Amino acid sequence: EGINVDGLNAIQQAFSDEGATQCGFCTPGFIVSLAGFCISNDEPVYENAIHAMNGNICRCTGYKSIERAAAVVNNLMQKRKMDNPLLFAVDNKMIPAYFLSVKERLQALKDDRIKNAVVSCPQKKFLGGGTDLYVQQHETMVEEDIHFLFDHHSLNGTQQNENECWMGASVTAADIARSPIFKNYFPELQKYMKLISSTQIRNMATIAGNICNASPIGDFTIFFLALDAQLLLSNGTNSRRLPLRQFYKGYKIIDKDAEEHVEKIIFQTPAAGSFFNFEKVSKRTHLDIASVNTAIYLHMNADTIAEAGLSAGGVGPIPAYLKESSEFLKGNKITEHTIADLLPIVQSEISPISDARGSAEYKRLLLQQLVKAHFMPLITKGE
Ligand code: FES
Repeated sequence: EGINVDGLNAIQQAFSDEGATQCGFCTPGFIVSLAGFCISNDEPVYENAIHAMNGNICRCTGYKSIERAAAVVNNLMQKRKMDNPLLFAVDNKMIPAYFLSVKERLQALKDDRIKNAVVSCPQKKFLGGGTDLYVQQHETMVEEDIHFLFDHHSLNGTQQNENECWMGASVTAADIARSPIFKNYFPELQKYMKLISSTQIRNMATIAGNICNASPIGDFTIFFLALDAQLLLSNGTNSRRLPLRQFYKGYKIIDKDAEEHVEKIIFQTPAAGSFFNFEKVSKRTHLDIASVNTAIYLHMNADTIAEAGLSAGGVGPIPAYLKESSEFLKGNKITEHTIADLLPIVQSEISPISDARGSAEYKRLLLQQLVKAHFMPLITKGE
């Protein structure tokens, strides 16, 4: 994978010494992931080294030898000063020297492409990370004329404008995880992130892509629905603002013309004293598509709910903003009675079907339990 030096690099050597090699798919995956860790700005602690390898799944052997190899690599990193991780990794034979010029070479390629990029070109498809499209439609996608969201500066970055947060369409899941704005408003963000795909996918997958994909169980779609986010859609000449909850018209049908693209995702930053939570259940805890997911936003006025947003995925043809449930919560206190009265309203707003991820009855039960789970920390706190 382009990370060989003369002989084994330090990561490969650690895998060899610890007997951590597996098959020809798994071993490169683990080693490349650890190389990524070695050149990242992540603090060199064992937990981060282990975390960096997520997304590499093997059921053939145990993980202990791999964990030992990761510990050896992490030990090698202890002398690193954070000002130039790349140079440290090269000097310590973790990666070859040509890495030092990779950034400039990639930038030159990108500059070349950006020079020719015209946003208002209806026959071109807009594409974020392609983490779903290139998998689902790989044969047709290679023929497509593509606008890469990453190529447009105007679509980058996350800014706070007074009490609104504006995210460019090319913002990825990993960008959110690193964003000081998100860390500030969503203290449990890292916990949710662990439930949402893997590092490799989070590095590429855009939030706008998740939203436009229109999967009824898109994790970030559900996250932003609870915040009652809005989309800024543009055709290059005109733009319009549309509530995300009005974006979905039917299964995989969205309110977006072919020539339009998402420019920004906008949401009100959570008010002081507000509460947000995201829950997800899938067949496997990590690296899996949700059977049911849900998010909640509550803004409290003393002990009364002033604003509420409740969303749910996997329980109907579209990612659902549960309007009546959200309305019901407003003006109520968080009590067991309120939750008991809320649950039938939630059930009246969903229409799950039985499929590979569970029966309709199971999904109804799941959502009921997850809605209760939203309130657990609040009820416990109130006791
Ligand atoms: Fe590669 Fe298990 S060692 S699939």
